[in-house]
Amino acid sequence: MNVAILGYGVVGSGVAEVISKNADIIKKNSNVSLSLSHILDIRDFENCPFQDIMTKDFYDILNDSKVDIVVETMGGVSPAFEFVSACLKAGKHVVTSNKELVAVKGYELLEIARKKDVNFLFEAAVGGGIPIIRPISRCLAGNRISEVAGILNGTSNFILTKMITENMDFDVALRLAQEKGYAEKDPTADVEGFDALRKICILASLCFGNHVYPNGVYTEGISKITLEDVDFASSCDCVIKLIAKAKKMDDGKISLTVSPCLVKNESMLAGVNGVFNACLVRGDAVGDVVLYGQGAGKLATASAVVGDVIDCACNTKERKFFGWDEGKDDLLADYLDEEISLYVRATVESMENAVAEIAHTLGEVSFLKREKQAFDEIAFLTPAMKERELRKILAKLPLSVISTIRTVDY
Ligand code: HSE
Repeated sequence: MNVAILGYGVVGSGVAEVISKNADIIKKNSNVSLSLSHILDIRDFENCPFQDIMTKDFYDILNDSKVDIVVETMGGVSPAFEFVSACLKAGKHVVTSNKELVAVKGYELLEIARKKDVNFLFEAAVGGGIPIIRPISRCLAGNRISEVAGILNGTSNFILTKMITENMDFDVALRLAQEKGYAEKDPTADVEGFDALRKICILASLCFGNHVYPNGVYTEGISKITLEDVDFASSCDCVIKLIAKAKKMDDGKISLTVSPCLVKNESMLAGVNGVFNACLVRGDAVGDVVLYGQGAGKLATASAVVGDVIDCACNTKERKFFGWDEGKDDLLADYLDEEISLYVRATVESMENAVAEIAHTLGEVSFLKREKQAFDEIAFLTPAMKERELRKILAKLPLSVISTIRTVDY
């Protein structure tokens, strides 16, 4: 089987490395021989071991009928979309690690693949090296899934872990993540939650059956999390994690958010540290399943891409039954209708007055303490209620709110 790669960046070069280095085990495990035929990149690479198959011309790949499988690891929507759709229309199977492409154009590309009877696979688009797309679409196909949630961005989890365990400055930890090749070209997508958003939209589309577009979804990143919040979280046996979650509500709508959350230390998600990701899937038959592994990085992500390439190579004659329906206008619920408990940190003018008012208005509140707490600083956990109500109440209390963080119970 001839494989071409579009984009020789971190993931693309990892895919080339795994295909050539592990050719023997790939053959042994799946009885297919993969041969790299082209690598497209507009840049020049000195000392690249694949110099003889590098090209700057996409049409070398598109017009070569001997190319069976195309791997897209360029990132971004354009020109990736144009290249991928042209390859699918030309009858080539396509494997991508590009979550932005799948989150924005997944339905369109799956439709083209369906019409042309070829495969469009994207295991590496969510959770890096963790098998998650195939387990949901195959192993859990006998379940009605009610919720999918997880830590889906390696860079932000790496930064939070450094803040929690080493008291490290946000900027230093971000630079470290960039040096290690975890972060996106523009790390805003990592630290402001947009990368995790794309991934949870893909998972929600797969779990709930209609394309969920990232546009307009409530998204909050980790850039405003401070070491004070980390300390208060620790005082109530919690850690702060960037949680992306999608839940099917009773009326059939999907409540989807990305935001930092307080996670109890005993939760499986609390122990997910560094660049690792974890994804929890809640099915009516299976209960909770948690998948865990490296969510970013060259070879981990390449592992997922190569798994898809092998799957395509083993299924050249038939398309895999896989995908979802079109998006719908009223698919998403208003996240403010979900019942949650909030962590609140604020300053107050009169501590006595504020404590009395908070307890009187909210009822069962847990006040938190930390070392070196400022005399006018207050932090507490609210009881669970609809977020809309909670925010109305907070606005009326005698507090200057500095931060609020949602809590989760898994
Ligand atoms: N920048 C992404 C992350 C890479 O940190 O998780 C994998 O999608």
